[in-house]
Amino acid sequence: MNKVNIIKVNDYQEMSEKASQYIIDKVKANPKMVLGLATGGTPEGTYKRLIEDHDQNGTSYDGVATFNLDEYVGLSGDHPQSYRHYMNERFFNHIDINKENTYVPRGNTVDAEAECEAYEALMASVGGIDLQILGIGGNGHIGFNEPGTSFQSPTHIVDLAQSTKEANARYFANIDEVPNQAITMGIASIMKSREILLLISGENKHEAYKQLIEGEIQENFPASILRNHPYVTIIADKAAIGE
Ligand code: GLP
Repeated sequence: MNKVNIIKVNDYQEMSEKASQYIIDKVKANPKMVLGLATGGTPEGTYKRLIEDHDQNGTSYDGVATFNLDEYVGLSGDHPQSYRHYMNERFFNHIDINKENTYVPRGNTVDAEAECEAYEALMASVGGIDLQILGIGGNGHIGFNEPGTSFQSPTHIVDLAQSTKEANARYFANIDEVPNQAITMGIASIMKSREILLLISGENKHEAYKQLIEGEIQENFPASILRNHPYVTIIADKAAIGE
């Protein structure tokens, strides 16, 4: 098993500061880097700080390409709850990135299977992801890879777990509006990235944190595979760690 680097922080705010600084350093070292991005509540503060830094210090994303982990099937990019919309609103619209270099799976495509294959090929064509940012679901999901997903999975279509729909219902008018399916990078796609930065915050992630660190590496807890990745950093706050 590889050694996972764990950075312990006090709270969400410090996690966001550390994560943004981590990303800024990488972008400065490699202005043409390929960045893997995540949505959800966890990285919101990080994106905020990246924008502040861009405004204050001029860190440039002009040469950066991004690939997002996932998108809801059936939502177009201008749907307010789509992850494309999330990324534009919370990050891309506020920095100097070229939008055509920002990739999010297209949720409203007529052929979602073909979209998955194209997405996987696109990642390969740019040489793969240099740094993938991840959050974690309470059930150990990464991207939308729910428990039981094969560790060999490429980008694919998933049925969302009821617990995931419930967790994400807060963004929708009600749970019935949460799509039943999503396109997600697979576990194999995520594991191909050269480096991974996993962010974990809050008491409600404590069980997931514990299982990630202490549990078995098994498909029923997707994030556990990260312990086999050669270059993973976890930034976790006290509440998640359980201190
Ligand atoms: C969502 C996303 C994941 C995210 C996770 C945790 O469903 N698909 O990419 O990491 O669940 O979300 P949050 O950060 O809001 O807790």
